[in-house]
Amino acid sequence: MSDAPLPRPDLPSDPPGPDRGTAAVVPAAGRGVRLGPGTPKALRALNGTPMLIHAVNAMAGSRSVSLVVVVAPADDVARVTSLINEYAPPAGTEVVVVPGGETRQESVRRGIDVLPDTVSTVLVHDAARPLVPVETVDAVIEAVRGGAPAVVPAVPLADTVKQVEPQPDGRPEPVVATPERARLRAVQTPQGFDRALLARAHATVTGDVTDDASMVEQLGVRVVVVPGHEEAFKVTRPLDLVLAEAVLARRRANHGF
Ligand code: CTP
Ligand code: MG
Repeated sequence: MSDAPLPRPDLPSDPPGPDRGTAAVVPAAGRGVRLGPGTPKALRALNGTPMLIHAVNAMAGSRSVSLVVVVAPADDVARVTSLINEYAPPAGTEVVVVPGGETRQESVRRGIDVLPDTVSTVLVHDAARPLVPVETVDAVIEAVRGGAPAVVPAVPLADTVKQVEPQPDGRPEPVVATPERARLRAVQTPQGFDRALLARAHATVTGDVTDDASMVEQLGVRVVVVPGHEEAFKVTRPLDLVLAEAVLARRRANHGF
């Protein structure tokens, strides 16, 4: 008789289920200067539905996410709250709205500040990435639950990237270096974190940052990358609105919605 452990019966893999422990903070308080003047970016419509609603539904579409904290432009909290009510989120997901700050970092911090104690995993997701597929959201959550304290979705770059020495007055910029493209990734959201780690990063790291993971990196904690998705691109400039509406049209043609 061997005393090797008996093989375990094949259990169905545990799908991410409803869990009070996972929340998403959705910073939506930016003006959208690069998109041009007008309504704040997150309130601009894509195929008739505000970008922010697409982003909230993308988070709520994960069975693991039970709470979404929308960080609205400070002057538009009432308007955002009524939009959320109008486009009622899926059953099983609570949505709360809080006012944002002057910087993305400040807006995210205000969202983190209202999370209930029961939340142990936090996603931070730009309202400006309205079309992220649920598979990407779930992959980030799974990696955090699997023990990674900080997880970012990312994709390889199409363009070669040059580091330059910026010059005044539009003069030609000298190239300083060309990083090896195969080792570079363009980083998306949702970024997923152990809640205590993210709170510590926001409480201690200062200075200009463009994502939450870089704050965690500054604490000396290892961040890991999981595959992102081409549809998780950020709506930044006017052409991105055209692309986003084309993606929605393709989804409707393929899936009937
Ligand atoms: N954001 C925020 N609070 C701010 C600035 C940005 O919540 N004070 C949010 C934006 O609403 C967006 C996300 O952070 O969902 C990513 O920022 P970005 O794409 O730069 O959006 P904007 O800052 O609105 O755009 P721009 O930089 O062109 O003004
Ligand atoms: Mg910005």
